[in-house]
Amino acid sequence: MSKKLRLGIAGLGRLGRRHAENLAWRVPGANLVAACSVLPEELEWAQRELQVPQTYGDYTRMLAEAEIDAVFIASSSSVHADQIISGLDRGLHVFSEKPMGISIDECLAIEEAVAAHPDKVFMVGFVRRFDPSYRSAKKMIEAGAIGIPFLVRSQTVDLDEYAPFQVKFVPTSGGIFLDMNIHDIDIARWYLSDEVRSVYAIGGSYVHSEFAEAKDADNTCALLKFATGKMAVLSVSRTAFHGHDTHTEITGSKGIIKIGMTPTRNRVELFDALGAHVECVKDFYDRFSEGFLAEAREFVECALTGKTPDMEARDGTAATRVGFALTRSFHEGTIVTL
Ligand code: NAI
Repeated sequence: MSKKLRLGIAGLGRLGRRHAENLAWRVPGANLVAACSVLPEELEWAQRELQVPQTYGDYTRMLAEAEIDAVFIASSSSVHADQIISGLDRGLHVFSEKPMGISIDECLAIEEAVAAHPDKVFMVGFVRRFDPSYRSAKKMIEAGAIGIPFLVRSQTVDLDEYAPFQVKFVPTSGGIFLDMNIHDIDIARWYLSDEVRSVYAIGGSYVHSEFAEAKDADNTCALLKFATGKMAVLSVSRTAFHGHDTHTEITGSKGIIKIGMTPTRNRVELFDALGAHVECVKDFYDRFSEGFLAEAREFVECALTGKTPDMEARDGTAATRVGFALTRSFHEGTIVTL
């Protein structure tokens, strides 16, 4: 790939700065030339650490002035939809972090914009689809290793020490189901090749009452029924003490696949008077750094070569639709049909 894709990034926070580093240093064919954040210190960081030449405090100005071919959106979830649509309308390839939008109307508007620009690459950051273990499980399922898959059990679990950040994040994240379970929803659809038809969610603020005050929860559990009768059981916790414990199990008619059941950092095990110990990954980036790099490489390769990503805007809509139904079920205490 001799031609370079000129990129602008929107959002340089917890995750945006990791994406920016990947685009600046580790993605063949990428040329990170512009960055946008509402926080001046983040723009100074991008100039100083990554030598990004064009920086903006305003996304609209970046689109109007920067010489870019693509935009990489890692801003707050509440602004994704506007930024995706205006990026596509400006004739750019667009990558957006999850969730694609935090309402169904937003997602449908994005689907329309994507359809209106068929020559532009559009991808949503469903990072698990790019994690080597999750990918390998998908290939095994496609090869028939577990027969017909009919049950996905999946969880996303964060360390308790991040709870204060998560509380502040609630107003712009869409809440626990759209922010965290969205990954489990996406891979359940992906592995079962089916669409969710009804959901039931429960949960509460068992450790941090601040989540209840924000009308959210710190631990949840959800049941999903798919069109063909297949099932998923999904849970989330923001109050773990051992590590970032994302794991998934897929049961089929001929076997079970388990992915990352113990979130070990490496292969070292310590055996001492207190028993056997392993060190765990601390946060989502620790666990999924390979996936974040792989998804950025895929986006840039698709934009430069015309290859089509194997993910569509309707996957983003479907996940948001389910996340929204789970949120409703949690608040209303009823089964919600999609
Ligand atoms: P953060 O709060 O640390 O950073 C948000 C960034 O967005 C800041 O740089 C802020 O300046 C920027 N921003 C906000 N409004 C903006 C606007 N109107 N124009 C331009 N920039 C704007 O948030 P964090 O944790 O980095 O999350 C960012 C996004 O990444 C969220 O949508 C989140 O859901 C997603 N995310 C995805 C993960 C995954 O596993 N794929 C993990 C963590 C976050």
